[in-house]
Amino acid sequence: MAATGAVALTLAACENATGATESTATTTPAATGPFAPALRIPQILKPTHTSGDTDYYALAAKTTETEILPGVRTKVLTYGDTLPGPTIKATRGRTVVLTQYNSHTEPISTHLHGGHVPVSQDGVPWDTIEPGKDRDYRYPNTQPGATLWYHDHSHMTEAEHVYRGLAGMYLLDDPAEQTLGLPTGEYDVPIMLRDAQFDDAGQLVFTMGGFKDRKTLLVNGTLPPHFEVAARKYRLRFLNSANERGFKLSLGDAVPMQIIGTDGGLVPAPITVTEFYLWPGERVEVVVDFAAHPVGTQLVLNNSIGEVDAVKSVMRFDVTRSATDASVVPAALRPALDLGAPTVERQLVFKFDLAMGMYLIDGKMFDENRIDQRIALGATEIWTIRNDDLKPSIPHNMHLHLTHFTVLDRNGKPVDPAETGPKDTVTTLPGDTVRIKVKFTENAGKTVYHCHLLDHSAMGMMAVMEITA
Ligand code: C2O
Ligand code: CU
Ligand code: CU
Repeated sequence: MAATGAVALTLAACENATGATESTATTTPAATGPFAPALRIPQILKPTHTSGDTDYYALAAKTTETEILPGVRTKVLTYGDTLPGPTIKATRGRTVVLTQYNSHTEPISTHLHGGHVPVSQDGVPWDTIEPGKDRDYRYPNTQPGATLWYHDHSHMTEAEHVYRGLAGMYLLDDPAEQTLGLPTGEYDVPIMLRDAQFDDAGQLVFTMGGFKDRKTLLVNGTLPPHFEVAARKYRLRFLNSANERGFKLSLGDAVPMQIIGTDGGLVPAPITVTEFYLWPGERVEVVVDFAAHPVGTQLVLNNSIGEVDAVKSVMRFDVTRSATDASVVPAALRPALDLGAPTVERQLVFKFDLAMGMYLIDGKMFDENRIDQRIALGATEIWTIRNDDLKPSIPHNMHLHLTHFTVLDRNGKPVDPAETGPKDTVTTLPGDTVRIKVKFTENAGKTVYHCHLLDHSAMGMMAVMEITA
């Protein structure tokens, strides 16, 4: 791993990630026109078989080619044959068994991000599948419905693997949610946002920490698309699967959006906003009512983080037809997480080490053989997370495995609406101190917490926690 060589890039990248400066030197591949592709909905993976309360799936991680830029075959590393990988649709109360084949040339580890799973099924960096081998992951799906995702988590190679394509959605349906009347079926749409850098031959370029050169946005694996919508309500499930890029999203000229869900699923009550942040690893679900716009209206989804034009327009919604709409957004969605009174406090410091060229938590690089936090199963804890990277200014995104938490405050102030629901990943901007309340309720064992700017986790910003029953 070229850690020192990556330092200069990383620093530049990090300044950019906060929207400070961004050079316009790198070319962005030409599309056939703005928003030319139609929004691609990742295919739903079909079970290989089903028995009793278990659905069986199989997926191979492998190199394949796909068309991202018009007329060009780009080599990608995917699950199955598509970029992103197929969507796994699970149902609360039914077990999923995923047989994961590794047809890649390096070890992989498949992690269900946001999954409440036994640690043996968690897909951690030390639990890899060697090339040519396979294993089964068993997901109990006992947690409430949520927009989860699966992605590679191999030791130090997760950043490159996810960048090259090893990521897909995992939508956990919840029977309790079906009675709410939210938009469903074709009106319930997953939208994965990321960025990429292409060379002159249209091939993906990966440079560790190379954020500043990743100036082409991809939405469900295509260049910024258009999406033909009916004049009615849609549930839009946004996921930021980019390695380092943050988004601040708004629709058209401040079109209202109702936030109904975050990382861990539904929020207690819908929150109307005109913009929201989406940092790597995070999910935000909104309902947008296109009935407020006449047929023929075009609404651009704007991103206000990052200075080059290429990253400012994410996609376009074209209202092309009228429709009837029986869906509703009820005033009460799901009770807030009940985490109880805290009895333990911990402090975490995220900081880049300039001399080492590595990213550290509490002054240490990731070591799978060291236990950084010992946690009692069922204890309620407050974690205070400090981002010490004010200069150079580097954002970090704290993600922890196996459970969901609530964000208490940021720099002593209330957090953004999109952060008031159940979370598994939280942003700390340069200099921020963020407090979360967390409880590990179901699964004991050893797993990780880390920065979800994956170039950072690959360069050391990950640590081990052991939960003991
Ligand atoms: Cu999405 Cu430990 O990762
Ligand atoms: Cu995770
Ligand atoms: Cu980080």
